[in-house]
Amino acid sequence: MHKILLLAYRWQNYSFFLINTINLIILLKKNTYILAIESSCDDTSAAVVKDGIVICNITANQDVHRQYGGVVPELASRQHLLNIIPVIDASLQAAGITISDIDAIAFTKGPGLLGSLIVGVSVAKALALCLDLPMIEVHHMHAHVLAHFTSEQKPPFPFLCLTVSGGHTQIVLVNGYTEMEVLGNSLDDAAGEAFDKTGKMLGLDYPAGPIIDQLSIQGSAIFPFPEPQVAGLNFSFSGLKTSILHFLQKGIASNPDFIKENLNDICCSVQTSIVDILINKIIKASKITGIKSIGIAGGVSANSHLRKRLIETGNSMGWKTYIPAFEFCTDNAGMIGIAGYYKYLNGEFANQMVTPLSRMAF
Ligand code: KG4
Ligand code: ZN
Repeated sequence: MHKILLLAYRWQNYSFFLINTINLIILLKKNTYILAIESSCDDTSAAVVKDGIVICNITANQDVHRQYGGVVPELASRQHLLNIIPVIDASLQAAGITISDIDAIAFTKGPGLLGSLIVGVSVAKALALCLDLPMIEVHHMHAHVLAHFTSEQKPPFPFLCLTVSGGHTQIVLVNGYTEMEVLGNSLDDAAGEAFDKTGKMLGLDYPAGPIIDQLSIQGSAIFPFPEPQVAGLNFSFSGLKTSILHFLQKGIASNPDFIKENLNDICCSVQTSIVDILINKIIKASKITGIKSIGIAGGVSANSHLRKRLIETGNSMGWKTYIPAFEFCTDNAGMIGIAGYYKYLNGEFANQMVTPLSRMAF
């Protein structure tokens, strides 16, 4: 099976022939299994995708960064080295298959931390070489968008996806599994960074996004922060960060326990401001494009207030809204496997010359 695929791949100039050959093989073969590997930041993850459905998704988180207030790249790559083989083993076991059942290896090529990416890419290349399997390179941000296809309720094309993570804030026009266009981007910090940097100012652990989400439940949004005025569909969070810093400095100057005494309300106010910025832009994007199928993806889409606001806004605007399950919001290999599966169907394979990229065109 792999030999036929590789042979077909070598004839890739004849793409019509290639895609039809692969589709014929898929029709003849009962199941297609893709092993997916994600290691772009501080989560080591492996998943098995069977015929486009995630059957297991195993992630090892790295607590080692907690004490440093952010991801330490050198520590992250060392931790990936320790985690990657056990995580792959665990995912094969959970899927109830062995490595010889796998038809292709999908992996994150970028963007991300170079040292972290090198671990995943090297393991993917080694497995592909030893087992004579085709490899599929995946763009991490495409995969976040395709996390929507891990769910039963799949959005129709075209749809708009607000992808909000620790490194990116984007509004993406999604025309197909491999056809996507960025309509808006953050000009400075990402939404996840706004949460994490606020957390650092408040003395919270990293990543602060989920902690702020939790503390906000007991708080009220009583401290207003000005919304940045950014043209078009782009975002900016650095102004908000500066406003928060000045606000905290002023509060501490008059009361040294200001943060401690107001922590829940400060968290709720910051969270409300970030979510308002995001929701207002996606409303604008829907009005400009006329698209009413709206999804959110990426780590920040795990935020309870953002999820609630998207549903409420969708109800009032007549949208159909889509939110991936929590497990597929933050970094995970399941979404890499889904993106890999659709590239597999298109016959889009990488070769042994592939290298990771810390920055990567969308
Ligand atoms: O997508 P992701 O796991 O990794 C990147 O590709 O960056 O996103 C991580 C980001 C972090 O900034 C984290 O604080 C944020 O997602 N995050 C949250 C929540 N859960 C994760 N932010 C707000 N509320 C949450 N519940
Ligand atoms: Zn991510």
